[in-house]
Amino acid sequence: MEKYHIITYGCQMNESDSERLAGQLEHLHYRRTETPAEADVIIINTCCIRESAENKVYGKIGELKHLKQHNPNLLIGITGCMAQKNKKALFARAPHIDFVLGPYNLHHLEELVSQKQQTVASHTLMTDMRAASIEDFTDIKAKRESNVFAWVPIMQGCNKFCTYCIVPYVRGREWSRPLASIRAEVEQLAQEGYKEITLLGQNVNAYGLDFKNGTDFSDLLYTVNEVPGIERIRYMTSHPRDMSRDMIDAIAACPKVCTQMHLPIQSGSDELLRRMNRGYTLADYMELLDYIRIRLPQTVLTTDLIVGFPGETEAMHADTLRLLETVEYDMAYTFIFSKRSGTPAAAMNNQVDDDTKKRRLQELMDVQNEISLRKNQDMVGQVFEVIAEGPSKKNADNWFGRTSGNKMILFPYQAGMTIGETMQVRVDRAQTWVLTGTPTERRSTAI
Ligand code: SAH
Ligand code: SF4
Ligand code: F3S
Repeated sequence: MEKYHIITYGCQMNESDSERLAGQLEHLHYRRTETPAEADVIIINTCCIRESAENKVYGKIGELKHLKQHNPNLLIGITGCMAQKNKKALFARAPHIDFVLGPYNLHHLEELVSQKQQTVASHTLMTDMRAASIEDFTDIKAKRESNVFAWVPIMQGCNKFCTYCIVPYVRGREWSRPLASIRAEVEQLAQEGYKEITLLGQNVNAYGLDFKNGTDFSDLLYTVNEVPGIERIRYMTSHPRDMSRDMIDAIAACPKVCTQMHLPIQSGSDELLRRMNRGYTLADYMELLDYIRIRLPQTVLTTDLIVGFPGETEAMHADTLRLLETVEYDMAYTFIFSKRSGTPAAAMNNQVDDDTKKRRLQELMDVQNEISLRKNQDMVGQVFEVIAEGPSKKNADNWFGRTSGNKMILFPYQAGMTIGETMQVRVDRAQTWVLTGTPTERRSTAI
């Protein structure tokens, strides 16, 4: 039996894409292996959001070289965002790569692998930014990692062109998946016993705008909320400019939509937000938050921040620190600005030096960690519904699950617990990244 091994970098979008790559190989009767040396096909599904992401991929590509020497029939494919960005330069740098597929070409994997010999001989490159239809890829049956939680891609691309970001260049323009196609996948998932879905897009609030028929993200939420069997609906990522009051009302009206919202702000400085081309001011963002807090008071709010954007002064950095103190996010993902060639910010001439960037990152993390801990401590003594995800990696006597707000809780294993079981857990102890608790009630609806 032939085997495949897939290595995934980057965001949830890539994790979801990898499941559809795996689906195509399963269709060819390949089986998954965790051991690269056993594999007949190895795919690295790549990310290029920051330089560090690319360096990791290059390291991994280098590691695979010796496998090709041992097994000349091995197929090595590079897929995803970095494939799109670097195209045939990848073959020049690493001739042991057999094929390179950009994000719009992932549905060709099955055909490529089935023509194995020609592929080995040809250094196949597919980085066309058009596909016949978005469903070419989204409707491929995924081979999923979990039996309980499922990624559901709802769109491709991004139109925002934030000045630091490579995504619009490698993922193309916003292209929405038809509502009927999403609904069909969610219904199928429910039938297979999936309980939780995450609707995925770079900017989910722009969903449907390209149909130009009035369909939008709110309609999508109402539609999937109706699917029986699905208990939880998450969505990633929201953009403060496109998140409308109507969408917040829709979230409030759909009981299955989780109390988690990831709303990246990037900076607390209006001047930087303008130079980043984010399309909102701090005041706009705070107004939006006020509405969210009124309509969705339980919301667990998280964000993304970039430090060291070109021209960031100490005063601008202090604005971001103040923002963290004011908003009190549950969690903030903080990134050091990384130059991405071809983006406007990479060419800006007032770059911040590395030491300053590192110090500012640490300052943001110090402030945020304290707030995250405090927020978690507020949960102690309260009972939350969690869906069990299985044993913790560190200690198999402990299992873990997530609340609707996406907070992870560890709890002691009890006989008969099953993955996918919905249970009530009381929080006993809080740390910055994790909570510990005790199940108080179990509702057995395991898969
Ligand atoms: N579409 C989402 C997220 C895209 S990438 C959004 O707009 O929020 C995830 C995060 O990576 C971004 O929110 C941003 O904080 C960070 N990021 C993107 N480009 C970056 C760059 N060049 N350097 C550092 N961080 C970057
Ligand atoms: Fe990148 Fe901005 Fe699009 Fe997000 S919204 S993917 S940060 S260009
Ligand atoms: Fe990376 Fe592409 Fe996602 S660049 S963050 S894998 S969209």
